[in-house]
Amino acid sequence: MDTAYLNGEYLPLDQARISPLDRGFLFGDGIYEVIPYYQGKSVGLIPHVQRMLNGLAAIEIQCDKTLDDWVALLDDLIAKNDGANSNLGVYVHVSRGTDTKRYHAYPENVAPTIFCFTFGIKEPEPVDRDTATSYTVTTSEDLRWKRCHIKSTALLGNVMHFQQGHASGNSECLLYNTDDQLTEGSSVNAYIVKDGVVITPIQDNQILPGITRRIIIDSIVADGSIAIEERTVTMQEVRDADEVWISSSSKEIAPIVKIDGVNVGDGKIGPVWEKAFAIYTAAKFSHS
Ligand code: PDD
Repeated sequence: MDTAYLNGEYLPLDQARISPLDRGFLFGDGIYEVIPYYQGKSVGLIPHVQRMLNGLAAIEIQCDKTLDDWVALLDDLIAKNDGANSNLGVYVHVSRGTDTKRYHAYPENVAPTIFCFTFGIKEPEPVDRDTATSYTVTTSEDLRWKRCHIKSTALLGNVMHFQQGHASGNSECLLYNTDDQLTEGSSVNAYIVKDGVVITPIQDNQILPGITRRIIIDSIVADGSIAIEERTVTMQEVRDADEVWISSSSKEIAPIVKIDGVNVGDGKIGPVWEKAFAIYTAAKFSHS
């Protein structure tokens, strides 16, 4: 059985228990992270932990663990799950903790609930557009809340959008705001490529500040051979794009070949994806 971490204790995952009065359970009142480790090497560990600390501060959850404490805990959990010989994601969840009643206001003097477990993730795709996995997506107006930059455990809006894509045989659902501008996907950031230029929506309250997104932008800028812009992207531009990609810690950079049943470009994985994925793959373990 996989080893999990719950409130200071390592234990078999199927023995981890929390109270139904936990505010994470009752209200989705918590912050989470998903961090990939390939053969024991993490991708973006420090920025992931930093984003979680920012999220905890944003919703005023007091947790006394420092960035160094988190890094030690997560590396330890990976080691306990034989991470050196496998590809694992680690899920980290900090809720506001267990109250004595159901009451919306933040309770005082309640210790947060800290829960972490690992799960197997796919091997990275080959940097080869002829053999890499491609994806198809649907689209929908973004009906989530206005604080999408906070990685909250309250994911019902995301879950409902993901299900829209899933129910129609697609892997994701790309979202647009009331001005018909691309925001992100239900569990991924999004990009288009037009005439060789990569374009991704601005990082604001409408999207999660993805760590994979950050590594993609930084590594492409450092490499210098592909132009990349952060700006507003209309849905018309999405439909007219040569390539469309999505990114996340589990999907890395994933090429989209159909949107709402219509081919993106020529319906095949594009050359800019292959080049960008090579750049990302070379840089991902050194990013912090
Ligand atoms: N999803 N946007 C949303 C809404 C997300 O939920 C995620 C991550 C991303 C990509 O962020 P990152 O590159 O830091 O993984 C963007 C995670 C993996 C999940 O919920 O399982």
